[in-house]
Amino acid sequence: MDIVAPARGEDPTSALVATGREWWRNAVIYQIYPRSFADASGDGIGDLRGITARLPSLVELGVDAIWLSPFFVSPQRDAGYDVADYCDVDPLFGTLDDFDALEDAAHALGLKIIVDLVPNHTSSDHAWFRAALDAAEGSVERARYMFRDGTGEGGELPPNNWESVFGGPAWTRTTNTDGTPGQWYLHLFDSTQPDLDWENPWVRDQFRDILRFWLDRGVDGFRVDVAHGMIKEAGLPDYTAPADSGSMGGGAVGLEPEIGTHLDAPTPPYWAQDGVHEIYRDWRQVLDEYDGNRVMVAEAWVEPLSKLARWVRPDEMHQAFNFSYLETSWAGPAIRRVVDGSLDAFTSVGAPSTWVLSNHDVVRHATRLALTADNPQGHGIGPKSPGQPIPELGLRRARAASALMLALPGSAYLYQGEELGLPEVIDLPDRSREDPTWFRTNGERYGRDGCRVPIPWEADAASYGFSTSGKSWLPQPADWAPVSRDAQLGVTGSTLELYRLALALRHEHDLGFGAIEWLPGYGENVVAFRNGSVTVIANTSDVPVELPVGRVLLSSADLHGSALAPDQTVWMRS
Ligand code: NOJ
Repeated sequence: MDIVAPARGEDPTSALVATGREWWRNAVIYQIYPRSFADASGDGIGDLRGITARLPSLVELGVDAIWLSPFFVSPQRDAGYDVADYCDVDPLFGTLDDFDALEDAAHALGLKIIVDLVPNHTSSDHAWFRAALDAAEGSVERARYMFRDGTGEGGELPPNNWESVFGGPAWTRTTNTDGTPGQWYLHLFDSTQPDLDWENPWVRDQFRDILRFWLDRGVDGFRVDVAHGMIKEAGLPDYTAPADSGSMGGGAVGLEPEIGTHLDAPTPPYWAQDGVHEIYRDWRQVLDEYDGNRVMVAEAWVEPLSKLARWVRPDEMHQAFNFSYLETSWAGPAIRRVVDGSLDAFTSVGAPSTWVLSNHDVVRHATRLALTADNPQGHGIGPKSPGQPIPELGLRRARAASALMLALPGSAYLYQGEELGLPEVIDLPDRSREDPTWFRTNGERYGRDGCRVPIPWEADAASYGFSTSGKSWLPQPADWAPVSRDAQLGVTGSTLELYRLALALRHEHDLGFGAIEWLPGYGENVVAFRNGSVTVIANTSDVPVELPVGRVLLSSADLHGSALAPDQTVWMRS
């Protein structure tokens, strides 16, 4: 175990930061979006038994852990991020026994398993919210949520001007049991996702129990949804977000040159309030009661990185998704800046940096990296969006970007299907769309369905082997046979083989526990660094770059002689 530099700043809890080789510090964690991974029941929606059956393919890929997006009881108004029972499995996905079987199988294969915890809001179908609606104003049941009187003469206006992340107002008015209009409740997301009041100790008690329920079942950790949103500023003051601030509270994707573009904007009264940290300190104590290095990872859209680092101080969470990295454009100076900024910020509190390029909320990076117009996070892309990508360019850049990412020290997150090079599905029929964003904006924002299309396993099977019945809850593109897993496995040069090689080499050279040293002399649009025994060179410029003499371990595209073409990354033996 090493003792590293104390955290910069005032926080006494991080005066001495101990770091070791715990599994999560260098882990490659694969995100499974259960409804789109593998369907064993044949209803066209993926499920837990489908996941269990496909786990060996993830071992073959070479990942260390899986993170499962929500599979809990839910009316699925926001694809399971609207939980009606935190301690049971939705019949759509199976049963608790199916979960136990999945967990046992994962552990037997050496995979850690992280589940999603959604504490900012429940579903409006949750028994707590139903009881709150039935109870009187000022009751203990209502005090679990954010009920407020309206403004205006008859309370007909919402309590403040906050907008839902998915579009439209963040408040919905209730109807009293006698049919008269009642109080309003806050929902930062859909109206079916009422926000809990985390100032209420009763709410805190419930979630400690929920953590224990899953820890007792043996999970290795939690991905914490909206980990920047649970505490709201006292008095709930009005707030108007800057025009380009992105849905989840992040910045615009893809084209911005700086990290933390919104640094001058005031902190919204519903994001990144100091009070959230007390909650995570409390949870950390719960996790620390268990053996086996259980972890929490924050989904916190917080900038700048130095502020995000507060979520991963030694007595809080273990990791936070690095959305600043995800939002960085494919440009050498921006990449170097965000890598340096990430390593500085996270190292200062003894946490590993994380790296991520895709997830179920953003345009897949095989498309995003070739967009030519601004596309705020959460808006998605559809047939009428400006800045349509050239697919070949997107894939080429995605492969180069993934190769670069997987050579960085720390922990990396992969989103199911990126190892196949899957693009965003841009031309989904409108009638198939399910994201509440689409409905709440009357189709103005396409939303996130395009990155959630069920993934292709077998080129020649119905629904590409996704479902035993050939059904698929979102239509899959007709041209996905060549990107199906079985069409790529063992095929030199395929995206799947690129990922498998990168993960094997990353492991062999211990890159996750390494450190980077920038290499000078390549020009500002070339990202060149050494991580231990591996030299990585990524060309974000539009001209070829001469490679040094040496053995090439991996290349994101065919190499022609000693020239590294634009949008290409190589790993070489240092
Ligand atoms: C973030 C999740 O990743 C997203 O899918 C969800 O819609 C919101 N949080 C609300 O829970």
